Amino acid sequence: MDTIFVTGNGPLIGQIPIAGAKNACLTLMPATLLSDEPLTLTNAPRLSDIRTMTALLTSLGAEVSSLQDGKVLALSSHAIGNHTADYDIVRKMRASILVLGPMLARDGHAIVSLPGGCAIGARPVDLHLRAMEALGAEMELRDGYVHAKAPGGLKGGIVEFPFVSVGATENILMAATLAKGTTVIKRAAREPEIVDLAHCLRKMGAQIEGEGTDTITVQGVDKLRGATHPVVTDRIELGTYMLAPAICGGEVELLGGRRDLVGAFCDKLDEAGVDVQETDNGLMVKRRSDHIKAVDVATEPYPGFPTDLQAQMMALLCTADGVSVLEEKIFENRFMHAPELTRMGAQIDVQGGTATVTGVKKLKGAPVMATDLRASVSLILAGLAAEGATKVSRVYHLDRGYEHVVGKLKGVGANIERVSDQ
Ligand code: UD1
Repeated sequence: MDTIFVTGNGPLIGQIPIAGAKNACLTLMPATLLSDEPLTLTNAPRLSDIRTMTALLTSLGAEVSSLQDGKVLALSSHAIGNHTADYDIVRKMRASILVLGPMLARDGHAIVSLPGGCAIGARPVDLHLRAMEALGAEMELRDGYVHAKAPGGLKGGIVEFPFVSVGATENILMAATLAKGTTVIKRAAREPEIVDLAHCLRKMGAQIEGEGTDTITVQGVDKLRGATHPVVTDRIELGTYMLAPAICGGEVELLGGRRDLVGAFCDKLDEAGVDVQETDNGLMVKRRSDHIKAVDVATEPYPGFPTDLQAQMMALLCTADGVSVLEEKIFENRFMHAPELTRMGAQIDVQGGTATVTGVKKLKGAPVMATDLRASVSLILAGLAAEGATKVSRVYHLDRGYEHVVGKLKGVGANIERVSDQ
């Protein structure tokens, strides 16, 4: 298990390139199961979650080649050779459930392990299963696996989600492309990753309307073809690195950054006293003074403030002037970074889904432990602004979602090293 050492050393200056979105790539990759022709994804991020999805798709009989140092993924699924997504892979990554819709749509059957517990809450998959049932699938839960069948093929129908789910929207959107007739998805997620998936599916021949709104209509087709598609920019990686100059001072340009991907987040940065300017190459971020103002944040589905940036925003607010209230409305247990930030001198009071952060003058370096992907990067951000050295252990969480985090931060002048334990 590797460890990252960060020492706060003042303003950061320079450029950070932003990769393709992990969460978009994880839903685009299973789309290969919908067609017997090749799917090529460019601008893919180099991450362990992508390797996990590669292993899962390979276990189902797909071929996945990683080209150009992992930036291009060539996928092909001439036939699905195995229709069982095994627990050993699915338990590592919840997004594995996204193979269910495509397999069911293409061949009328699929067996997928239930993902099991997760560090940030119960995270069931009931919405995915109910949505497949609305398209005529029969579901049975046996021995920890979902056994799904649609003997005559899926049939278009109305899917009305009780609340927004990104993954369930993606799963049913893929399934509906090959269902017979029209599917209407109501209370659909509107995240940029859904829009990106719809664009790719359309290139493959799918008939989709309304992506990016809360109602998506899909006219099923008999067959999808191959396509080449660039993965959309990672708005969470973007937001994370936008916080680095906000926390440490300096001026950093995020290459490939787009304001429309992080609108609600930019509004909160502005309220806190951080400027975001669009440039020819992306976004330039700089704080307006040495002081960050306290702001209240509530996480919401897109276009609201993303839950995946809540931990990082908390790291910023730990040293703000005044009291900030952060409300986590998507996941019930997503404040595990709070006790770790407290070890660094932060003042945080967590009550259920609300964290009250009272700004302190300075954080102090300390040994801390990464508990999940976004929590771990929030500790690194806090470490960049702290006095003395912060030792972040269990950084394998980081590798799931951030490529070259050490190199990218070093590139703008951060004092950060990764040490392998051997
Ligand atoms: C995706 C993202 C994740 C992000 C989350 C919310 C990927 C790979 N992951 O996760 O980074 O934090 O969106 O923006 O894209 N729920 C149910 N039943 C279900 C499905 C979800 O109760 O069947 C609940 C979840 O527990 C959660 C809420 O719905 O409380 C939203 O989850 P969802 O949008 O589905 O998140 P994911 O797609 O898993």
